Amino acid sequence: SNIQWFPGHMAKAIRQFEANIKLVDVVFELVDARIPFTSINPEVSRISQGEPRLMILTKADLADPKLTQQWLRFFRTQGLVALAVDAKLTGVQKKIENAARTLLTTKLAAQSERGMERQTIKAICVGVPNVGKSTLLNQLVQRRSAPVGNRPGVTKGQQWLTGNGHLELLDTPGILWPKFQNQTVAEELALTGAIRDSAYHSDDVALFALQFFRTTNPTVLQERYRLQASALELPAPELLLLITANLGMRDDYERASDRIITDVRKGKLGRFTLDEPQDVVTDEH
Ligand code: G4P
Repeated sequence: SNIQWFPGHMAKAIRQFEANIKLVDVVFELVDARIPFTSINPEVSRISQGEPRLMILTKADLADPKLTQQWLRFFRTQGLVALAVDAKLTGVQKKIENAARTLLTTKLAAQSERGMERQTIKAICVGVPNVGKSTLLNQLVQRRSAPVGNRPGVTKGQQWLTGNGHLELLDTPGILWPKFQNQTVAEELALTGAIRDSAYHSDDVALFALQFFRTTNPTVLQERYRLQASALELPAPELLLLITANLGMRDDYERASDRIITDVRKGKLGRFTLDEPQDVVTDEH
């Protein structure tokens, strides 16, 4: 029942990122606000050592707001500039541009003193699959803007995108593989959609979801799947079978599992965050 993992393209992705980072002023490191620790790729901090980095927690609209605040404080104590966004919302562009400008104050001031007044800030988005890189990129360059064309140093086929604001972004976001130390990490990634469906069994992930929600939000689970309070005491596999029946899917628990996963991802079971800052010290992530 192990979730399969395919690290094959990792080395290539890392090399690409190492090359790209030389071209930008700031790295936008995207993590999923529902799994802020699990969706971090440790290579990002290693590679961007000394480079300005803005930590962006995406999907904050789906995450537990209290835990998001805790995570922002946690990252700030780590010396990072961090903010949480709904990447789908308009207005996110200004928020990020302002944060980037603040982050780069010293650098921009130094250049200005040397007579190099700079209007634009060059950036790249990196993060695990499905974290919201394309969504954010579209917001930052405001969709209809045209690519500004190839420039020296940019890999063939790569382009800078620009919008109404003062940001220029590399069109190809850095896709980095999530860490995969243990089964819990894998299940968190699967549940939030960071690893593809073919790489896991839905029932494993659904059982994981049921375990989580029955302790954190039993009411929503009961209402969603028409369960008696006593049903929440059942062993997880039995609970899954009961939900399967309640969904009118007879004994097709795989189909029910897919439904549960979809419900979770869409926020139908409420806003949630699977990682807690307090676990970082003790956890073996
Ligand atoms: P990627 O490039 O990093 O792989 O991610 P992408 O932007 O394609 O986003 C993956 C999915 O996550 C998309 O949903 C996107 O709409 C959604 N998404 C991205 N950022 C946010 C956010 O801040 N909040 C919410 N709620 N969703 C976000 P999808 O299911 O592929 O499409 P759709 O549901 O938008 O139609």
